[in-house]
Amino acid sequence: MITVSSLSIKRGGKIVIHDFDFSWHRGEKLVLLGPNGAGKSSFALALSGMISIESGEILIDSEPISDYDLPSLRKKIGIVFQDPESQFVTNDVRQEIAFGLSNIKLTREEIKTRVETIINNFTLNELTSRDPLKLSGGEKQLVAIASICAMSPDYLIFDEVTSLLDRATRERIYRLWEESSLSLLIITQNFDEIKYGDKVILIENGEISFESSATDLKEKSLITTDEIIFKRLLEKNKESIPQYERILEILG
Ligand SMILES: Nc1ncnc2c1ncn2[C@@H]1O[C@H](COP(=O)(O)OP(=O)(O)OP(=O)(O)O)[C@@H](O)[C@H]1O
Ligand SMILES: [Mg+2]
Repeated sequence: MITVSSLSIKRGGKIVIHDFDFSWHRGEKLVLLGPNGAGKSSFALALSGMISIESGEILIDSEPISDYDLPSLRKKIGIVFQDPESQFVTNDVRQEIAFGLSNIKLTREEIKTRVETIINNFTLNELTSRDPLKLSGGEKQLVAIASICAMSPDYLIFDEVTSLLDRATRERIYRLWEESSLSLLIITQNFDEIKYGDKVILIENGEISFESSATDLKEKSLITTDEIIFKRLLEKNKESIPQYERILEILG
């Protein structure tokens, strides 16, 4: 379980995450929804130990994040970004997948087996000798996801990974989210994607504005593909929704 208490993060001299409390159980799928600049990526980067925090605490499976060395942290928590290029470090897809694995200190044999398994699982066989930077946008994102999944982290963050993708690749990622039994944190601005979470968290101006189990939302038929319909359904169910006024305010 990941537990975050009273977390604040400062970037460029400004507090961008303010007094955040958050918990993420093993196997739980969370959706973090929020407008541009809300602090979603900053939060994700802090959770994966990539930026430092101003105050508060992040515990990963009961250990403070600062107690993990880099290989152990990479085994615990993985992150995929909107822009997959920022993640690439080699000029060959097979090497790219192997690179992450060499960082978590596996034997050469283990690396070889895992690379082949993930290439098959993601049907990347035809891309294995290609330069990741010369692939299509969709192929790049699949390679980036495969590289992170190869490390089989216990917790996996997807930071707006579908926003620039073609429909077919997006559908593949949706299938992965649906079928996965991993702990997922799906960061998005796309209402369609709410349905992949067990719990939905809305964040605005660095603060959690609303939290609800997806089952609650589903039971009230609040999950739709359309924001306007979403608002209409919120209105219809307002009696049973705590913070209803606040949600409407946020949705604008
Ligand atoms: N490297 C940085 N240096 C300084 N300020 C930053 C940096 N990265 C982000 N910020 C600021 O932190 C705030 C939160 O940004 P963040 O990227 O976390 O938001 P976000 O919710 O991920 O937005 P988006 O949906 O656009 O990706 C913004 O005000 C942003 O300008
Ligand atoms: Mg972001």
